[in-house]
Amino acid sequence: LLLLAVTFTYGLPSSKKRFDGNQVLRILPKSSDEILKIVDMGKNTMLVHIVDIWNIPKSLNSTLDIHVDAHNLKGFVAELKSLGTNYMTWIEDLQKLIENENVHSSHVKSRAAASFSLSHYHSSFQISNHLDAVALSSRYATVHTAGHSVQGRAIKYLKASQFRGSKKAIIIDGGIHAREWISTAVVMYLIDQLAMNPDNNPEITSMLQKFDWYLLPVMNPDGYEYSRTNNRMWRKNRATSHSITGTCTGVDLNRNFGFHWNPAIGGSRDECEETFAGTKAFSEPESRAVGHLMQSLRGQAIAYLNLHSYGQLWLWPWGYTTSLPSDLADLKHMAGRGAAAIYPSHHAHYTTGGDATDLYPAAGGADDFAKGGAGIKYSYTVELRDTGRHGFVLPASTIIPSGEETLKGIIAFASELYAYE
Ligand code: ARG
Ligand code: ZN
Repeated sequence: LLLLAVTFTYGLPSSKKRFDGNQVLRILPKSSDEILKIVDMGKNTMLVHIVDIWNIPKSLNSTLDIHVDAHNLKGFVAELKSLGTNYMTWIEDLQKLIENENVHSSHVKSRAAASFSLSHYHSSFQISNHLDAVALSSRYATVHTAGHSVQGRAIKYLKASQFRGSKKAIIIDGGIHAREWISTAVVMYLIDQLAMNPDNNPEITSMLQKFDWYLLPVMNPDGYEYSRTNNRMWRKNRATSHSITGTCTGVDLNRNFGFHWNPAIGGSRDECEETFAGTKAFSEPESRAVGHLMQSLRGQAIAYLNLHSYGQLWLWPWGYTTSLPSDLADLKHMAGRGAAAIYPSHHAHYTTGGDATDLYPAAGGADDFAKGGAGIKYSYTVELRDTGRHGFVLPASTIIPSGEETLKGIIAFASELYAYE
């Protein structure tokens, strides 16, 4: 029944963008100059809007993954050849990958509702209903609404608070970027574990004795829904009100938070760009909702994890500047504990580093606001699986392993935090 439902959803909308013959090319740059040339080639000239850069290398030994439209593949490849660039075809056919994404995964039942499969991707509606189901069946979890999206969808979160006494809080969210589905699925897995403790796991009991947990699976429900029904590669929210020309939609919520907001740093003032920062700090209801939640927990929240994909990175602030926070040693220490504890479960190797120093500078991030704007000391961006094999289109069969290892990382991180603070 589930497989049928999935196939049906996939076959339904005719307006759905297809990616037949689109490829992801993996480029092995020889110099930073070459990286710039290739990025420019994608952005300017006649190739505008036909290439989509999936990741920019953080060092010269890493790769540049570029998604290229089928019609422009020949032209783009010719340009790469004329530059003498080393590249390989990394994803042969993006459409095939997308079609296989949510099938071939066995049904892993949620403890709260057997019909909800933790090992599949779901609509924002199904997720919203499931949060209510969890709150009903858990003895200590409650569901709340942080705010509403541009299109009026509730941005819900689950609070898991067992045992009496004042505890510090940990906030974890997913789905800030629409296409990064694994981040939402992993938060759903964490919810099942922390709010239901299905195996009566003493490690989880201890986590609930030590902290209150705020788990928000879909920060950007409109974008998430759009990535399911119209364009699998959508990243931003679905705001239309900023468009001068009426042609482009969406703000990058991770450029819109109000701490040293600045479109010139890793963002854009152009509403047609993937990193459009909005018209002002917190111009978007989704970032505002999460910003308010953080501020309402000022003094109580000690940690914040903003989940993304992909890259397998555990990153500390700041994003807006390459200057480092004064408590860097503490931030590094905890990130190291978390990242190291992810590895044993399934051998996924996570690297730790700084947003701006090891990835790229970008202002207006949720992690920067949590730390700088809401006083949440241990604030991080965690880029989940993978390292590019499937990129954003991570097969559903990897949700459970990703959930398991992320939970292990978070338990180690939180235990150390408790012992240290
Ligand atoms: N991939 C994330 C993004 O581009 C990284 C964000 C890191 N955090 C930051 N504040 N720059 O949005
Ligand atoms: Zn992201």
